[in-house]
Amino acid sequence: MSLDRIQALRKSLHDHNFRYYVSDNPIISDFEFDKLLFELSELEQKNPDAFDPNSPTQRVGGEIVKSFDSVVHRRPMLSLSNSYNQDEITAFIKRCQSVSGEELDLSVELKYDGVAISLCYENRKLIRAVTRGDGVNGDDVSVNIRTIKNIPLILPNVAPNELEVRGEVYFTSDAFEDLNKKRFDSDGAKFANPRNAASGTLKLQDSFEVATRRLSALMYSVYSDEFDFKTHIESLRLISEWGFPVPNQESGWIRSCKSVDDIFQYLSFWDTERHSLPFAIDGAVIKVNSILIQEKIGFTAKSPRWAIAYKFNSEKVLTRLREVKYQIGRTGAITPVAVLDPVWISGTVVRRASIHNADQIAKLNLHEGDSVWIEKGGEIIPKILEVEISKRLIGSNPIKFILNCPDCHSLLERKEGDAQHYCLNMDTCKPQIKGRLNHFIHRKAMNIDGVGTETIDQLVEIGLVHKPSNLYELDEEDWFKLDKFRDKSVKNVLAGIEKSKMVSFERVLFSIGIRHVGSTVAKKLSKHFGSIDSLINASESELLDVEDIGPMIAKSLRSYFSNQSYLLEIEKLRAIGLNFKSEVINKSGNKLVGFSFVISGVFEFFSRDEIKKSVEDNGGKIVSSVSSKTDYLLMGSGVGPSKIKKADLHGVKRLTENEFLRWIGSSK
Ligand code: IVH
Repeated sequence: MSLDRIQALRKSLHDHNFRYYVSDNPIISDFEFDKLLFELSELEQKNPDAFDPNSPTQRVGGEIVKSFDSVVHRRPMLSLSNSYNQDEITAFIKRCQSVSGEELDLSVELKYDGVAISLCYENRKLIRAVTRGDGVNGDDVSVNIRTIKNIPLILPNVAPNELEVRGEVYFTSDAFEDLNKKRFDSDGAKFANPRNAASGTLKLQDSFEVATRRLSALMYSVYSDEFDFKTHIESLRLISEWGFPVPNQESGWIRSCKSVDDIFQYLSFWDTERHSLPFAIDGAVIKVNSILIQEKIGFTAKSPRWAIAYKFNSEKVLTRLREVKYQIGRTGAITPVAVLDPVWISGTVVRRASIHNADQIAKLNLHEGDSVWIEKGGEIIPKILEVEISKRLIGSNPIKFILNCPDCHSLLERKEGDAQHYCLNMDTCKPQIKGRLNHFIHRKAMNIDGVGTETIDQLVEIGLVHKPSNLYELDEEDWFKLDKFRDKSVKNVLAGIEKSKMVSFERVLFSIGIRHVGSTVAKKLSKHFGSIDSLINASESELLDVEDIGPMIAKSLRSYFSNQSYLLEIEKLRAIGLNFKSEVINKSGNKLVGFSFVISGVFEFFSRDEIKKSVEDNGGKIVSSVSSKTDYLLMGSGVGPSKIKKADLHGVKRLTENEFLRWIGSSK
């Protein structure tokens, strides 16, 4: 009985999902939908044998994958050759015409700026979703793709048994902005553009997180050994009846064109109108519509000869330079930034543009009040392309790079061979002090609970802190001197500071902020040298022996460790109790032998890989989904509610990160 109900609920939820996300024609409210989904989820938990990866409940994600399997594409995934002007398109059409021998019918469509995906269906069920990879092998990212609401998981009976549909996974502008806002609020990191965001999201190991990010898909090619598609446009129309999202013909996202003029008209229309679309495109694609003629024209090794991409120019606008400001980084590096008259470009208001260094100012020959052409390419920060000389104000002065630090007024220095100017006053130049402290407390560094940039600002301004070790010397009374700090927040911050003493050596090494030593380099160094003492004593050539450590990093390390004040600070931090040695503890430990763990959420002291490794190093076993055989659900923050529910249902014990640390006896 409940199995029948499960089937009925699945069918009904798939239908409602299609109505909501593909045909934009829902007939039940969100509340009713959630009620049905909840009922199905309860029934599935009571009937684990009825598990189906294509159930609508799987769209919320929750599964953690260790790594994606590499699979061979059933048909190689080729790319498109590019064209940038009308002559190249005319030549392409002529070539196609000469092979086909007849007047051509061409499909012209948008080129979505996302990530290519191949969806394979067998017996009308999604069995695999694979990224393009190198065109021959791709990654099986099915768990993540199943969370994309407008991708059908089950097809109707009219669809063939074997079907492969390819298309683009992308972020709508709304979903992208949402995601970046959330990311910025949580750790200040933003994706540069929707394409990077889509590609990063598909590679996430936590499908629950993927589900929250609202990816979309649009399909552009169809293949089946069992079905004769006559034309490309017809094939898309057919698959749309089977539930796939395809380009909207009424909105002109795809059109059949018979003449070169038709095509040029289409291209120039979308070149200007593309910003009104709800997603990013980077051009258009022109394809021979007839499948028979496509086959006649054939392929090169890399791309079909019957299709070509046309890339739009990126948008350029003219605006006025108000002034050049100078930012001071934590290393003392000075970066000039152009402050502009606000101007709309590619759907956002631009107020600033980056100018990398003094050479760039000279190269652009920037003058005060110049009108400048700016371009927002694929990246978020626009750049100045050139000055519009015809608009230069008579008598305006060239912009001169500053000689003194805008904050502490020390004379700036530029070393030979270095493009950047530096303020060398690292001891009292406040932006540098704040920059170093902000780096130290950052989530990816020491991750100190209760301390943020505002707190650092205050601590430095009132002179309580100017290097990391000072943070550990503050007592309750000091914290009460800050705005917004009351009993509870003071308690929290003191606990957060105490907890940071458990952070691993590799992260401490990253946190102290050696130039060019990012988190990956810190990891490599800590693994190779094992302790700060061996690292301090390593010669430049010993440093160069480490994988991926080049002369620039080696020099930077040597110069850092030959500075007495840095060495003194390291000694202070060591005395305070920070980790300056790699933990090899419990490497061959057996504390977790016989126990299996499901890992979910984001952890404070471990990356996903680190915590898995730690479980395995201690003899535990990682399993990907919760079942009655699982012993523990090891939970980070943001663990999926469905996971917790499932764990409770199967009597799987919940384990927090701190409990785990205590269990393995790590001093992370
Ligand atoms: S057709 C044989 N149509 O552009 C190639 N591709 O290098 C078939 N793309 O990786 C691709 N929009 O991910 C096609 N309307 C569209 C497209 C499109 C975006 C992407 C695709 C491919 C890249 C071309």
